Amino acid sequence: MLDIRNGIAVITLDNPPVNSLGHALRERIVQHLDAAEADSTVRGIVLAGSEKAFSAGADVTEFGTPRQLQEPILRTVIARLEASSKPVVAAISGVALGGGLELALGCHGRIAQEKARIGLPEITLGLIPGSGATQRLPRLVGIAVAHGLMSSGQPQSGRQLATSGLFDDVVAGDVIGAAAARAAVLAEKGAPYPRARDGELDAAEVQSTVAAQRAKLTARQKLQPAYGALLDALAASALPFDEGLQKERELFLALVPTNAAQALRYQFKVEREATKLPPAFQAPGREVRSIAVIGAGTMGSGIAISALDAGLAVLLLEQDGAALERGRQRIADHYRERVAAGKLSTDAASSNEARLQTSLEWERLQQADLVIEAVFEDMTVKQEVFRRIDAHARPGAVLATNTSYLDIDPIAAATARPQDVLGLHFFSPANVMKLLEVVRGAKTAPDVLVTGMALGATLKKMPVLTGNAFGFIGNRIYNAYRRQCEFMLEDGAWPEDVDNALTGLGFAMGPFAVADLSGLDIAWRMRKAQAATRDSRERYVSILDQLCEAGRLGRKTGAGYYAYVDGKQVKTTDAAVRDVIQQASSQRGITRRTLALEEIQRRALLAMVNEAALLFAEGVASRPSDIDVVLVQGYGFPRWEGGPVFWARQQDRTQLEHDLQRLAEKAGFGFTLGDLAPLLST
Ligand code: COA
Ligand code: NAD
Repeated sequence: MLDIRNGIAVITLDNPPVNSLGHALRERIVQHLDAAEADSTVRGIVLAGSEKAFSAGADVTEFGTPRQLQEPILRTVIARLEASSKPVVAAISGVALGGGLELALGCHGRIAQEKARIGLPEITLGLIPGSGATQRLPRLVGIAVAHGLMSSGQPQSGRQLATSGLFDDVVAGDVIGAAAARAAVLAEKGAPYPRARDGELDAAEVQSTVAAQRAKLTARQKLQPAYGALLDALAASALPFDEGLQKERELFLALVPTNAAQALRYQFKVEREATKLPPAFQAPGREVRSIAVIGAGTMGSGIAISALDAGLAVLLLEQDGAALERGRQRIADHYRERVAAGKLSTDAASSNEARLQTSLEWERLQQADLVIEAVFEDMTVKQEVFRRIDAHARPGAVLATNTSYLDIDPIAAATARPQDVLGLHFFSPANVMKLLEVVRGAKTAPDVLVTGMALGATLKKMPVLTGNAFGFIGNRIYNAYRRQCEFMLEDGAWPEDVDNALTGLGFAMGPFAVADLSGLDIAWRMRKAQAATRDSRERYVSILDQLCEAGRLGRKTGAGYYAYVDGKQVKTTDAAVRDVIQQASSQRGITRRTLALEEIQRRALLAMVNEAALLFAEGVASRPSDIDVVLVQGYGFPRWEGGPVFWARQQDRTQLEHDLQRLAEKAGFGFTLGDLAPLLST
């Protein structure tokens, strides 16, 4: 849209909802610019967006398609702005991300609103900025700030960047008015207008900063080509501008088709899909302003913090006064630490804490729109709690259980309103972890599911719908993966071989280090509970039970799979653990052999893929991609590998089927082979 007021042409980007810079919008910007330049009544030009978005950057749906490269490409638009015969000033409100910020960097001036969110998130898509930011930004704000914005991918507010040199001014109010005034001043002064490309850079400082940052790259960053490429592009900012720009382009184009960039684009898309319920469940949700959390333990207090952070009123309810006090204290400590770390203002912390009530009186449940139970993982206890909830919660309240593994139907059946009951499976720590499995029971009403998904969005989580089956999506796949890793111990690997192979693939931690961290006794207790129904023909690895019997319950007891000295993991397993493992191998009649890194990685992934095929066929996941979202968001699966389903789709199908067949043979009795076709074709 082009609008001329008092000699200033305001070009408003108009591609809702977020002004992504698809081909049509790029074309319109150039047309409006041509028109404004041709109009003799125009002295200066303002480039503005909407309140929500100046621009969220390149249209990610165009990546890897011919449209992305169709002229005018973003670089051409930016060059055109930069060369304009009339001064152009960007008026930034809402978000200015990626190409959106690059567009603004091509202008002769920039005004931002205090609350605007400015950033270069390309790295989160496996890319680097491809339209000049690696060259223009360091010339405006210095190499260190520029590197910080690009390598974190995290946006900052206009206020945070007010003194960075990026903006001519940061304003609280009318950003277009301020930009128009700035354009008038520049017009008055006349050409040449200020350009980011003309900024001075100290070449030696660029090189030393880049070298220092290269030395700091983490192992996970080194697995992703974009991190190294970003440093190469920033190093090129020490070259003459056009040479640096050319180098950036080459690096960017080489990244677009990489597996990591494809996987990250895929995750961007499927994360958004996962939060939307399939059409069969569309219904208006119920309003949730206040929640009650029952059980003030690890999960209950984390859920309470998450809800307080989102502005909800929270009632924390317990059976035990001392446990309630511990929970209240944990929440108070959390806020005190956030304030001390400068992450939260004192006012925000007090406002959050003021919305918390703690109580032992169940009658008070009546005030809650939604109740979340987070008591011990025991069916009898949970059913008793739901009976009490049923007696006190108001009609129409949504009733949720945070169970990790239990069947939610008998829990719902303990109430007279099973249609109001669902599972809301949070992950620990609940105020940090993004994933939220929203579990549908046999009788859960659609509007209750809608409310659960909406609560996830309110809490800034990633809600994913799952069916009511043992372990839902995440724990079920994780169990299959862990079991395969235990097989590999019996076959010849040591725990560190498996853990190193999987962190080498990009997992945040290996399965045995994770088990030590969460405590081996959780799995031990469950194994004992399942012992009576376990078929003796099944391949059952008893290493974990034996470690527990020896008092090695994990990190908290100073030893599990690994020993811990002063809280630090000893990297190789000790003789006692190796004895247990060797005995397990010989009892199964296995001659131990060295497992290559690739074999460990592949078997772990194959086990996940097989379980994914099984649970998708059972309808536990409504889309294959939801499985990938769960694994990435909740289980440390490397996001740049896309998830097990994405990974499987990249493999040769015949080889995959052959390898799964072998996996089934080695597992023996009780291992069901899933059908890959439905999983990989949808
Ligand atoms: N290109 C194409 N579509 C985009 C987009 C982009 N750069 N950014 C957002 N969208 C789409 C989303 O897919 C979504 O579409 P849908 O409604 O069909 O699902 C819609 O815009 C709204 O986005 P959503 O993320 O749901 O809204 P939000 O208000 O929570 O967040 C943003 C808005 C802009 C902060 C967020 O979408 C974002 O971070 N986008 C990515 C920006 C980016 O990485 N740009 C650099 C590209 S190199
Ligand atoms: P926890 O032992 O830390 O806390 C449980 C709390 O519930 C205790 O404070 C206890 O006093 C209280 N409680 C027990 N019975 C009660 C009753 N009848 N009425 C009121 N309060 C009662 O346990 P947790 O780790 O927070 O786990 C809680 C639930 O969350 C379990 O179902 C667990 O499976 C699930 N979960 C745990 C994790 C995790 O990593 N810890 C992750 C996801 C889900």
